[in-house]
Amino acid sequence: MCGIVGYVGPRNVPDVLLDGLRRLEYRGYDSAGIAVLQADDIAVCRRVGPVGKLIEAVSPELTGHTGIGHTRWATHGGVTEANAHPHMDGPERIAVIHNGIIENHQALRARLQEEGVVFRSETDTEVLPHLIRKLYRGDPLEAVRSALQLVQGTYGCAVVFLDHPGTIIAARNGSPLVLGKGNGESFLASDPHALAALTREVVYLEDRELVRITTKGWEITRLDGAKIDHAIHLLEEEWGSGDKGAYMHHMLKEIHEQPESLRRCLSGRVVPEEGGARLGGLDLSPREIVAIRRVGILGCGTSFHASLVGAHAMEQLARIPSFAEIASEFRYRNPLIEPDDLFFAVSQSGETADTMGAIKEVQVKGGRVMGIVNVVGSSIARTCGRGVYVHSGPEIAVASTKAFTSQVGALLVASLMFARTRALGPHEGKNFGEELLKVPDKVREYLDNPGPILKAVELLTSGKYVFFFGRGVSHAVAMEGALKLKEVAYVPCMSYPAAEMKHGPIALIDAKTPVVAVVPDDIMRDKTLSNVQEVRARGARVVVIHTEGDHEAGRLGDVAIAVPRAPSLISPLLTVLPMQLFAYHAGLALGRDIDRPRNLAKSVTVE
Ligand code: M6R
Repeated sequence: MCGIVGYVGPRNVPDVLLDGLRRLEYRGYDSAGIAVLQADDIAVCRRVGPVGKLIEAVSPELTGHTGIGHTRWATHGGVTEANAHPHMDGPERIAVIHNGIIENHQALRARLQEEGVVFRSETDTEVLPHLIRKLYRGDPLEAVRSALQLVQGTYGCAVVFLDHPGTIIAARNGSPLVLGKGNGESFLASDPHALAALTREVVYLEDRELVRITTKGWEITRLDGAKIDHAIHLLEEEWGSGDKGAYMHHMLKEIHEQPESLRRCLSGRVVPEEGGARLGGLDLSPREIVAIRRVGILGCGTSFHASLVGAHAMEQLARIPSFAEIASEFRYRNPLIEPDDLFFAVSQSGETADTMGAIKEVQVKGGRVMGIVNVVGSSIARTCGRGVYVHSGPEIAVASTKAFTSQVGALLVASLMFARTRALGPHEGKNFGEELLKVPDKVREYLDNPGPILKAVELLTSGKYVFFFGRGVSHAVAMEGALKLKEVAYVPCMSYPAAEMKHGPIALIDAKTPVVAVVPDDIMRDKTLSNVQEVRARGARVVVIHTEGDHEAGRLGDVAIAVPRAPSLISPLLTVLPMQLFAYHAGLALGRDIDRPRNLAKSVTVE
């Protein structure tokens, strides 16, 4: 979603800002802009469309040493240049960029309009520069503080004042901001990614904090005025380059990185010789693990699908009552949370607002919640305090692929650890651990020889819509397959537990309706194959994802795709791979913007 960069220092600010915005492109956006302080005015340039268009529009003669830049993902007001950030006050001496939503913007706008302020955009953000102007008495930090005290909602914002060259004021409430320290220069961004090439020394702002940033460093205070000092974090070097390498798209590269990303996630954590697993980041003693009465796993989108697999594993392997729930629903149903519950919050970005809201709901009620997160130092990781990093490395494509398999991997490791502490014998634990450690090689084996993907894609793109079904953990995989094909290829898809088809959805099956059936060779295989027969009898054309060697299952498909054999709970790590490839190749065949599908953002920081 929206991205923020800011810079004060000796470098030429447009170069730093435009480079930073390029690095934030993967988050998803629809317009971009920068504001650069000049001697007599603030130069603003904004464009609808890719950052490339903004770069073309910025005059090479524009120079300066203080500035802010933004990529906007429209929420309030259409995708227009007037709605793009930065926004300015009436006399154009203050420029503001903002991520998040000002919930009381209508009331604030009405009051300002009564006082004669003329608005130039439809955005919620524009109330900020006007409010700040109204409250400005010479001290920029205090003007921003006073304005934000009147604001309800979420913000990560940055403000520059013509009167104060060499200064940026920024503030955070529910929308991430990170400060970067340089030598006689300071950086600001909504995502450490934008800073990776500039500095490794960063500080994460917390909610309701404001900062005055200068070339010498920064001064952080709380919204109520109290001074704060935060320790410097070092950005991890191993985070990786995030470029496409030899691949045409990030998505394809990330699909093919799964053997390594899974190996990183599992290695050192699964300990077959002990029949168990170790996750130091959870910091749970055996006694505490035995005392857990219920596990809740929360996430959104793909992370929710990984949570579903995790809940199956927790219950089946560790025998702890478990459930997975969409984070945005969980937080608003006033859930009961007991002291012996344990929650996991699953998130690739670690910035998803809905998941963050669910975490806060657990914490407000005295519950324990641990992160299963990819991005190190992200808001969710820090808010949870304890948890597991999944170590996928940078995931740039909007469609999540390698993060899914690593999230499932981490949840399987946690399930094994809890299981071994509670009821699982060393022999069974060892077997499960060994099977888990074989997965990276099996993923490689499959990706080297993925089967008739293009034939399947031809079938999947030939109908009006596609059904995905499976049972047990394979239903979670079916949901993930449907989400991938929708978001990357814009093909309408539905997913169901296979047995649900006959309770209504089967009415939609007619001659040639494409169906994807996920049928690994597990306890649900025979029942799912009966469901395949039922849709075939009504004319559906079926792509069957089955276990290698299971020829009977394969024969029921118009297209059959075999994946290596694995125990049922581990099978999603393999059955999901063809789903990812279907989405990628269907997107390619239909000419979609694979890495940045329309309307979507990588990091969903608004509710
Ligand atoms: O960063 P998160 O894992 O918290 O993001 C959650 C969802 O927004 C994300 O998984 C989304 O569904 C992806 N686009 C799916 O490919």
